[in-house]
Amino acid sequence: MIMESWKTRGYADEPVPEGIDIRAEIRRMCKEKNAVVMAHYYTEGVIQDIADFVGDSLALAQKAAETTADIIVMCGVHFMGETSKILCPDKKVLVPDLNATCSLAESCPAEAFADFVKAHPDHTVVSYVNTTAATKAVTDVVVTSSNARQIVESFPKDEKIIFGPDQNLGNYINSITGRKMLLWNGACHVHEKFSLEKILQLKAEHPKAKILVHPECKGPVVKVADKVGSTAALLRYSIEDEATEFIVATESGILHKMQQSAPQKTFIPAPPDDSTCACNECNYMKLITMEKLYNCLKYEWPEIEVEQSIIEKAVRPIKRMLEISSKLGI
Ligand code: 13P
Ligand code: SF4
Repeated sequence: MIMESWKTRGYADEPVPEGIDIRAEIRRMCKEKNAVVMAHYYTEGVIQDIADFVGDSLALAQKAAETTADIIVMCGVHFMGETSKILCPDKKVLVPDLNATCSLAESCPAEAFADFVKAHPDHTVVSYVNTTAATKAVTDVVVTSSNARQIVESFPKDEKIIFGPDQNLGNYINSITGRKMLLWNGACHVHEKFSLEKILQLKAEHPKAKILVHPECKGPVVKVADKVGSTAALLRYSIEDEATEFIVATESGILHKMQQSAPQKTFIPAPPDDSTCACNECNYMKLITMEKLYNCLKYEWPEIEVEQSIIEKAVRPIKRMLEISSKLGI
């Protein structure tokens, strides 16, 4: 039974019974309930290690679309759970803590974005996956940082495009494609905080290190990168490149997989401009804990709910992204 107080908090915090092997119990419940645990690279290492699948936001959407599980437990932020629910409306989609939102998605309120779209009726609307379901519902095609360039380039050169909500990603795509997309003024509170000065200082101390940057970072940080890409692209590069040291300008959770995949290499998290806070950590992703995952599977709660009318509109641009990506082999 769900306690009223949990409902208002958005997660169950019943203590895990003493002496229980939480990992074994999570695996047992997954088997019993035909549930699959998916995790983003920014979640805690223990969450990534228990998950059936770890990926970037594109891979998580692709996996959700094809899973045969009855329950999807999305260890990530709210919009990732919504994307799974939109793709699999008949499945139960759980996120262990509903407070795990996303500053970037929240920087684009659906109603204001809809007004912006209405004011530019001759534009195609391209939205980053880091948006709420309601924002996706007024979108023509969704993109992630893995496929944004290719999807934008799939439109004719003179296509008028609105790109939202991440201004940094939009500026980056404009710069590499020569497009002049109209940008929404949104940003991620983690990625916009990386300090160029501190990255250059680290580079001076580690001259052989390669700089890896997520395109949600500001332009000056993106400019000094050896590799710009999604979390999955940065991970792949760090494994395949011959360099043995990397300065990593994205959320620090990715270092877990990087270090696991290339234990002989050194990964240095890029520091934020304010050294008094752990600003290179996404506080929303870090809300997902083993205890919450355990309770979420036990009570099959909290569940992601999306209005049917929104699902019907939002599913089109998400499916369009998956179709283009699959055609392009991304
Ligand atoms: P990826 O698409 O690279 O996984 O990034 C998701 C995200 O939230 C970046 O902040
Ligand atoms: Fe959202 Fe930023 Fe967290 Fe990514 S790192 S989930 S964009 S708040």
